[in-house]
Amino acid sequence: MEKRQELYAGKAKSVHATDDPDRLVLTFRDDTSAFDGERMESLARKGMVNNRFNAFIMETLQAAGIPTHFDRRLSDTESLVKKLEMIPVECVVRNIAAGGLVKRLGAEEGQALDPPTFELFLKNDALHDPMINESLAETFGWATPEQLAEMKALTFRVNGVLKELFAEGGLLLVDYKLEFGLFQGKIVLGDEFSPDGCRLWDARTREKLDKDRFRQGLGGVIEAYEEVGRRIGISFD
Ligand code: ATP
Ligand code: TYD
Repeated sequence: MEKRQELYAGKAKSVHATDDPDRLVLTFRDDTSAFDGERMESLARKGMVNNRFNAFIMETLQAAGIPTHFDRRLSDTESLVKKLEMIPVECVVRNIAAGGLVKRLGAEEGQALDPPTFELFLKNDALHDPMINESLAETFGWATPEQLAEMKALTFRVNGVLKELFAEGGLLLVDYKLEFGLFQGKIVLGDEFSPDGCRLWDARTREKLDKDRFRQGLGGVIEAYEEVGRRIGISFD
């Protein structure tokens, strides 16, 4: 496999073509953004930590029967993935109220959400990723009703697998965002799963161990990511 030209540089990852038209290389950079890219900082080791974190989670999900784009980790910061036609819709599940839900609906941070909620957001930086729904996605052609149903079912299956995995490490999976795409006509989990795109709290103390440490200027961001990783069996050496 040969890495070829850069196709896209996002806020945290770069995407390169390869000599295989069906494969891409994702490079996890140290760049960290919050508030729609308003705040950008480079956090040493983040690329390596998130690449390893994501590889472990994608392999866990794949083993649980959830189709993912992940092929293999190529280096500390690079992974080989299937090239997907991305669906521009982000799927968010929440088990506990935090972040946007607290702001929007006045829920109390830390309130248990039973049953867990499911929300859709349009992936569009210029519009600040607005919240959408199934009807809007269908009408504007972002995803078909069948695709949306499949994405919702897969997002909840991921919840079952990961809530348990993190619980074994003494962690609460508060909420998370997933992105899906099409590979040979089938819905496949794409992008990444790392503490950049989810909330994880210590189950006993409720200490925040995710990107909220960066958003809220709490410090110890990467140390927290590594702590979470170690608790679920990931080695960063
Ligand atoms: P955001 O941070 O809002 O997700 P971004 O584009 O800045 O946006 P990055 O993670 O920096 O995000 O960039 C990675 C890009 O690669 C994303 O646009 C993501 O949708 C896309 N992507 C992820 N996995 C695949 C894949 N398997 N095939 C094609 N594109 C992918
Ligand atoms: P949310 O609380 O709606 O937004 P914010 O994190 O800006 O307060 O996000 C819910 C979860 O989904 C949270 O763990 C962050 C993640 N997420 C992203 O990573 N990217 C996104 O574009 C969105 C909408 C959510």
